[in-house]
Amino acid sequence: MTYVIGVTHQKGGVGKSTTVATLGACLAEQSGRTLVVDLDPSGNMTSGLGYHPEEMEKSIASLLVGQEVFANVVKSTSLQNLDILPSNPDLLSISRHLFSYKGYEFLLRDILRRHAGNYKWVVVDCPPTLGTLTITALTAAQLAMIPTQLEFYSLQALDVVFKLINMTRSKTNPRLRYRLLVTMYDRRGRFHTDILTYVRQHYSKALMESVIGFDTKVRASQLAGVPLTMYARSSRAAKQYRELAQELEAYVERQVIQPA
Ligand SMILES: Nc1ncnc2c1ncn2[C@@H]1O[C@H](COP(=O)(O)OP(=O)(O)OP(=O)(O)O)[C@@H](O)[C@H]1O
Ligand SMILES: [Mg+2]
Repeated sequence: MTYVIGVTHQKGGVGKSTTVATLGACLAEQSGRTLVVDLDPSGNMTSGLGYHPEEMEKSIASLLVGQEVFANVVKSTSLQNLDILPSNPDLLSISRHLFSYKGYEFLLRDILRRHAGNYKWVVVDCPPTLGTLTITALTAAQLAMIPTQLEFYSLQALDVVFKLINMTRSKTNPRLRYRLLVTMYDRRGRFHTDILTYVRQHYSKALMESVIGFDTKVRASQLAGVPLTMYARSSRAAKQYRELAQELEAYVERQVIQPA
């Protein structure tokens, strides 16, 4: 029983890679074996977990085009129970050519179906574009998680994300669900508080209850190349990501998301 979450937003810098690495670590600690997949050619999530993307000879890129097998690409991390399919810069050229592969949308889904059965969770990091790589992630996922900051541009860009989700539902993945996740919330000012109230009213059930606050420990943990939950166990953001993992566990119990 494997649950696949695609973390996506067209807007850059909203906390996608941070969410994949940290949520992945929390799920690995609290729930069961977890695989994180770096589908972004920039490789931020890969480096956040301690690997250098440009030194990765084998990556998710070679796996997608069938040049490598899963067992040769998957890597362990500093956290027991958490594995990664890393990215490297080859992913950029592959993302441009994927369109020419017939049925490319299903490549990731099929790889995970074949090889990820031992993982309870797979969490996929997407680039800040809604191209081929994001489409493969959304086709493989049961849940699209959309991290968003409480600022106009992030909220404005949601429309185009919703369009892609609807397109994916109609073409390749009818059961795809989605949830918004508020990130980098600053509770000190009125501004974020007011927008959060609006977002809660406007999106109601499409919003994860957990909210991730702004926390300087996040950047420090990425610099150190270890998951936040190990670097600063009792930091506020680590606690909030643990709550998010519990919320997802409850989704499984209530069958809000069904296994692949
Ligand atoms: N909760 C947080 N508190 C403080 N800083 C954060 C938090 N979450 C993310 N950041 C910082 O914000 C920046 C953007 O985060 P991240 O790289 O996760 O976003 P992204 O959506 O993956 O970006 P991109 O679209 O470029 O891939 C990073 O410098 C990260 O360290
Ligand atoms: Mg990123």
